[in-house]
Amino acid sequence: MVNTGQVEITDSEFKEFRSFLYNETGIELSDKKRTLVMTRLAKRLRAYKFNTFSQYFDLIFGHDLKEKQQAIDLLTTNETYFFREPEHFKFLTDTIIGEWNSPRSFRAWSAASSTGEEAYSIGMILADKLANKPWEIQGTDISHTVLNAASNGHYQMNRIDGIPPSYLKRFCLKGRDEFEGSLLVDSKIRQKVRFYSMNLTKPLPETGLFDVIFLRNVMIYFDAKTKEQVVRQLIERIRPGGYFLIGHSESLKGMNVTLKLIKPTIYQKL
Ligand SMILES: C[S@@+](CC[C@H](N)C(=O)[O-])C[C@H]1O[C@@H](n2cnc3c(N)ncnc32)[C@H](O)[C@@H]1O
Repeated sequence: MVNTGQVEITDSEFKEFRSFLYNETGIELSDKKRTLVMTRLAKRLRAYKFNTFSQYFDLIFGHDLKEKQQAIDLLTTNETYFFREPEHFKFLTDTIIGEWNSPRSFRAWSAASSTGEEAYSIGMILADKLANKPWEIQGTDISHTVLNAASNGHYQMNRIDGIPPSYLKRFCLKGRDEFEGSLLVDSKIRQKVRFYSMNLTKPLPETGLFDVIFLRNVMIYFDAKTKEQVVRQLIERIRPGGYFLIGHSESLKGMNVTLKLIKPTIYQKL
């Protein structure tokens, strides 16, 4: 047992929760994550005045879908920022958009979008480089909390460091009065970026094909089997010749997939 001065989680409770989270989300929790589980779920136990984790788990392993979603939201790690891993955005600008000469709508997918910074970073580039040509972006995530934030497109100023100054000027509205210290992504971009809930480890809904998919900084939470299953599903959604970008600490090593490595973390569908 681990004791944090609050409700304690027993070995068997932790194991049960670990397999629940894995089955629901593909997220693997190591033994080191026990304290994290306790601290992140503590407020839910307090809300129900439960004094064991089993009582709470009975609720989420049962039919309380809303509470189950809350628990998943609390256990996901949602760190992200604008123009994270800037080489990808340079590649998008110079190569992907640079080569784009089709009359149809350019389609990008930020899979595991978290609070939306990745999708809006893509959006600013498309708004800049594609001018009046059509484009659209879909952002998806398993956590409903982050999707709500993403849809609002409203961010605190201390989180906008990566946005190039010219894009800040053109595509972001600075908050005034009660919104001082925050910014809103321009509605011209927000209108073209749709966010919705999607679990990448389950069969995917119909989405159509994409010219580029960003799958960044989520595979790190999955084991090899889940990673491959997720990647295979997503590759099917890339248009031939389209691109697939993964996080810099991630790899497709050992996977037998129909992708050509263009540069580290940048792949093209054959
Ligand atoms: C660290 S964030 C990455 C955000 C962004 N892609 C980036 O690189 O900055 C990881 C996101 O993956 C989401 N996630 C975890 N498991 C998922 C799953 N099975 N399906 C969809 N999203 C998932 C989490 O909710 C979280 O918002």
